[in-house]
Amino acid sequence: MSESLYLPSTTNRQEIYESLLPQIKALTSGESDLTANLANISAALKEAFNFFWVGFYLKKENQLVLGPFQGPIACTRIHFNKGVCGHAYTTKEVVIVPDVEAFPGHIACSSASKSEIVLPAKDKNGEVFLVLDVDSDELNDFSEVDAEGLSQIIQLIEEIAI
Ligand code: SME
Repeated sequence: MSESLYLPSTTNRQEIYESLLPQIKALTSGESDLTANLANISAALKEAFNFFWVGFYLKKENQLVLGPFQGPIACTRIHFNKGVCGHAYTTKEVVIVPDVEAFPGHIACSSASKSEIVLPAKDKNGEVFLVLDVDSDELNDFSEVDAEGLSQIIQLIEEIAI
């Protein structure tokens, strides 16, 4: 495993995702502990994009519980029917919210958070076992480029979590 990330000197997110994915693969290969892998993945995403908040909520019994993350302290538990994370959990779909104020039931962990994207990861039975939550302090900061790039990371997590 390399000890530092190589990041291209560009602001083009697609190029950064393309560079990051094989490095995250290398970083997680040979490590079977899910918490360790999620911790490094959230650190890699923070370092690559300097997202305001990036991290995981894991399904535990009947709630989503805060897992490894980078950024300010956050809500520790989210009900399945609450917030953007709950919406991604119940619909099993990627959710992009350009303006969190306009999303009914959004959970304001931080008033600085303005837009977000949440992606669910599913087990082999199609059940969501965690969500990846990325928050920005800018409005409308996420696009299909992020949905695509982060979906590849989710696919990798689905593979390593089995
Ligand atoms: N934004 C999330 C809550 C978690 S924090 O923002 C870290 C939501 O509404 O689901």
